[in-house]
Order: sequence, then C-alpha cells, then structure tokens
Amino acid sequence: MKRLLLGALLYAICWPLMAAPDGAQKYSQGCADCHGRKADRLAFGKAPPLISLSREQLVSALTDRRDGKIPTSGAEQRAKQALSDEDIQGLADYIRSLAPAAAGDAAR
Ligand code: HEC
Repeated sequence: MKRLLLGALLYAICWPLMAAPDGAQKYSQGCADCHGRKADRLAFGKAPPLISLSREQLVSALTDRRDGKIPTSGAEQRAKQALSDEDIQGLADYIRSLAPAAAGDAAR
C-alpha cells in the first residue's frame, strides 16, 4: 500500500514535467491566438482568463467541449474537437504553469 502511494505521488510530481513541453507547443500553436500567450486574455470577451481556472476546471472544460457536451463552433471547435486526453492533460499542466502562483512571479 505504501509503495503504491509512493508511486502515485512520484507520478503526480513527474507527470507535469514530462507533459509540459508538449503542452507548451500545442498551446502556442492552437490556443494562444484567442486566449493570449500567457493565457490571461478574455477570448472574445467570453472566456475567463485561463490562468484563473484550476487544473480540474481546465480538464473538464476542454473535455466537455471536445465531446460536444458544451457546444462550440468555428475556429474554437476546430481547436478543441481533435484533442486527445493526453493533449488535454498537457495543456492543463502548461496553462497552470503560466499562473502567477505556480511561476512564483506576478503576471506582468
Ligand atoms: C478561435 C478562438 C479559440 C481558440 C483557438 C481556442 N479557444 Fe478556448 N475558448 C474560446 C472562446 C470564445 C471560449 C468561450 C466560449 C465557450 O465557453 O466555449 C473558450 C473557452 C475555453 C475554455 C473554458 C473557459 C471557461 O469558461 O471555463 C477553456 C478551458 C479553453 N477555451 C481552452 C482552450 C485551449 C486549451 C485551446 C487550445 C487547444 C483553446 N481554448 C483554443 C475561443 C478559443
């Protein structure tokens, strides 16, 4: 049991580090135009700055949009409909890494 917990903990610590580079690339190519390079922009005045969302909120928001539970259209739909679960995890990690608290630096 202890070993299992330790494994889960290690995984939780390492996973963002492994996932981040990919998330960074995906984000700058597919999301930054609307949500801002630092994820601090209001997309068309509709979406809150993504850095204000928790990791869980990001994952469920993206999953629900990808799966069509939350309807999207046009370019937003194209950006979200083809995301894999791994893409979503990587993007959520990357966006969280942009948040001021995680970066240890105030947003400028
Ligand atoms: C063409 C512009 C556009 C692109 C590209 C785009 N988005 Fe969005 N996004 C929006 C708009 C507009 C909304 C608000 C409408 C809605 O709720 O779907 C939104 C909503 C969201 C939300 C939900 C915010 C909330 O209200 O909780 C998340 C999370 C998100 N986007 C992440 C992403 C990520 C990650 C990418 C890249 C894979 C991306 N978006 C690409 C325009 C875009």
